Amino acid sequence: MKTIAIYHNKGGVGKTTTAVNLAAAFSNKNKRVLLIDIDAQANSTFATGLIKFQFEEDDNLKDRNVLQILSSGEFDFIPEIARKSKGFNVPEIDVIPSHITLIDEQDRLNRLASSRFRLNTKLEQVEDRYDIVIIDAPPSRDLYAEIALIAADYLIIPSDMKPFSNQGLNIIKKFIREVNETRSTIGKDTLEVLGVLASKILTNSKYLEFVFPKQKEAVLQRYQFAMLKTVIYERVALSNCVNQTVSRGDLEIPDPKSVFEFDRDCDSVKEFRNLSSEIMEKIGF
Ligand SMILES: Nc1ncnc2c1ncn2[C@@H]1O[C@H](COP(=O)(O)OP(=O)(O)OP(=O)(O)O)[C@@H](O)[C@H]1O
Ligand SMILES: [Mg+2]
Repeated sequence: MKTIAIYHNKGGVGKTTTAVNLAAAFSNKNKRVLLIDIDAQANSTFATGLIKFQFEEDDNLKDRNVLQILSSGEFDFIPEIARKSKGFNVPEIDVIPSHITLIDEQDRLNRLASSRFRLNTKLEQVEDRYDIVIIDAPPSRDLYAEIALIAADYLIIPSDMKPFSNQGLNIIKKFIREVNETRSTIGKDTLEVLGVLASKILTNSKYLEFVFPKQKEAVLQRYQFAMLKTVIYERVALSNCVNQTVSRGDLEIPDPKSVFEFDRDCDSVKEFRNLSSEIMEKIGF
């Protein structure tokens, strides 16, 4: 089992889009996939079809989500909390959903050193159940991001390559050093950075010719991070697939799809297939 965290401290750079569609790409290659949403915004939870309810009284995630995983070492193990994605992809994937209540619990969890290691420990217990675990992390440098980076073997850093995203790379570098210190206290190897993934990249030819190469060079030279070869371009299919709905009576029910289910012939499908192949090669799968 290999665990990959998807993280950048900059918001809106394509972390969730990468996490869910990469999970679908691996699932389509017959890998047993677990997706963990550890961002209180619960965007991966939504994108995998687990938030179809419209009213809070119908919320069936409240008592069975990633918060329970983090809150106890004795109860609420991964097989009890994971559920299948719904109408997201064929084959569906297993998901540990997130929940908005994560926000309120951060201080309490922060006071307990052991809460940092619970996800890691609970993942060790399901090594034989999954081939790949993908963790969608929040856009912050907080406890939840730290827990994701402690539990992961590998890190992918999606970036739109813009100036603020690039400057954020220095903060990530420092964060990784601190996380590695914490990992060493539990005898865990250092986190392996698979690279920066250029994401939401404009297809405009001038940009690709003149600006993009310089931005990539900066990542390598100034911040000393490797770039993944695959590029995820900005494409409408990728934003549309998550916004699908179905009518049921008077209601429009969310019906999000992986990009593979949405349009199997679109360019984003090829890009995510390539990304999954590139990663499999890098992690020796
Ligand atoms: N390659 C892409 N092409 C088109 N739209 C995209 C692409 N990647 C992401 N988007 C859109 O951009 C928005 C932000 O993407 P996403 O939620 O994946 O980013 P994020 O880094 O997870 O954000 P956050 O920091 O809030 O968690 C979403 O509306 C998503 O549909
Ligand atoms: Mg996100």
